Amino acid sequence: MSNVAVIKHPLIEHKLTLMRMKDTSSKDFRELLTEITMLMCYEATKDLDLCEIEIETPLKKMKAEVLSGKKLALIPILRAGVGMVEAFTNIIPSARVGHIGLYRDPETSEPFEYYSKLPEDLEKRTIFVLDPMLATGGSAAAAIEILKKRGATDIKMVNLVASPEGVEYIQKLHPDVDMYIASIDEGLDDHNYIVPGLGDAGDRLFGTK
Ligand code: PRP
Ligand code: URA
Repeated sequence: MSNVAVIKHPLIEHKLTLMRMKDTSSKDFRELLTEITMLMCYEATKDLDLCEIEIETPLKKMKAEVLSGKKLALIPILRAGVGMVEAFTNIIPSARVGHIGLYRDPETSEPFEYYSKLPEDLEKRTIFVLDPMLATGGSAAAAIEILKKRGATDIKMVNLVASPEGVEYIQKLHPDVDMYIASIDEGLDDHNYIVPGLGDAGDRLFGTK
């Protein structure tokens, strides 16, 4: 089974509450998403490998740890995942960024792939799939499938708000993928929107509704 980490932190709780409020502006929504993602990035990267090197401080030589250098890739799912990229690249500027464009059909909720541009050496990288919303799990599962077909083996997923159904779906299909989530909400409504959720993340982020 995949590890599911629900990241509990007062700053995340507070900022997520502001994001959920229906009158929060796109500007604030965007900024809050970046801030929460930065906090989640801290937790999602906690297993990155370190190695020891010798350095010299102004006082003496010492052995100290640095990242071992395994390559990383950030894969936002378009559109809303784009709102999480800056938070990661602020902290890990050398990470490559690939994009997967998926659109959820409003009638069937099935994901439709319309774009993908990925780093070539995915098999060598630790991959962070970024999407604020995990509803049915269809989009996330499709993105993970695309990445695995391209050779990826070390995949983690970061979501802000998930439904229990979505979490279960990913655990069943992709038990090797670790998940980092800020909140698992009550469930899905008749249109497969997360309740209480925060609405349509892409529209709120980009002000398209
Ligand atoms: C949203 C969201 C996820 C997906 C979640 O994207 O950002 O990618 O829905 O739903 P699922 O778990 O049921 O697949 P959407 O398809 O609305 O596209 P958008 O970001 O371009 O608005
Ligand atoms: N996509 C969203 O943006 N929000 C939901 O609640 C479900 C899918």
